[in-house]
Amino acid sequence: MQKRGYLTAIVGGIAVIGASVALFQAQPVAAQAQGSAAVFTPDGRLKVPEGFRRWVYVGAPLTPNALNGGKANFPEYHNVYVQAQNIDAYMKTGEFPEGTVFVKELTRLLNPTFPDGSRTEPSGRGFFNGPFNGIDATVKDSKRFAKTNGWGFFTFGHHSLPYEATAAESSVAECAGCHIANVAKTDMTWVQFYPMLLNRTAGWDTPQSR
Ligand code: HEC
Repeated sequence: MQKRGYLTAIVGGIAVIGASVALFQAQPVAAQAQGSAAVFTPDGRLKVPEGFRRWVYVGAPLTPNALNGGKANFPEYHNVYVQAQNIDAYMKTGEFPEGTVFVKELTRLLNPTFPDGSRTEPSGRGFFNGPFNGIDATVKDSKRFAKTNGWGFFTFGHHSLPYEATAAESSVAECAGCHIANVAKTDMTWVQFYPMLLNRTAGWDTPQSR
């Protein structure tokens, strides 16, 4: 009897596992690339990527307002993040995998005291990251964004917090056109500004890389 009870438990257990696998498979995957940080609402809006400040911080192009007629096209610091597994793949193949997400979080300069936007700190006179001021993101999905070289462009606003929670795909004129015109050959991404992505043979994650 005891043995039979044991067996029943095992069979029952297998049935439960089977049922959960079936349930899992029944979940709609909504054409999202596996393991991608891109999450879309049912009407195709991208959600602000979860936890992106924990990703790899590849660089921070800087376009101070003072060097751009008082108002740069994009708020001043552009802090760029991408997940490590996507860099690994890029280093091997020269292309980012399907589902790759780049987040560019914008900040303004910290309390400028000189007209050029700089201030003096113990390290010297210069530019320092100030308040958060917006998010732009790109998502690689060759099918969904076939018309714009396989990447979708999204902006959650260029302004102080809070950001929009979701964003519709931006127009070619607003975003993709400039990337297509300039960086189509490097998978639509400005890798030339991110030193750790430049030398694909040297690896990127040790101090000796590059
Ligand atoms: C006039 C050209 C131009 C336009 C328009 C443009 N970008 Fe870019 N984008 C750049 C340049 C140049 C960089 C890298 C240097 C920098 O950030 O200053 C960049 C970098 C990025 C990055 C970081 C990853 C990468 O490709 O290097 C993201 C994400 C991004 N842009 C998204 C957007 C979004 C979203 C829009 C529309 C709201 C947009 N861009 C419009 C020129 C442009």
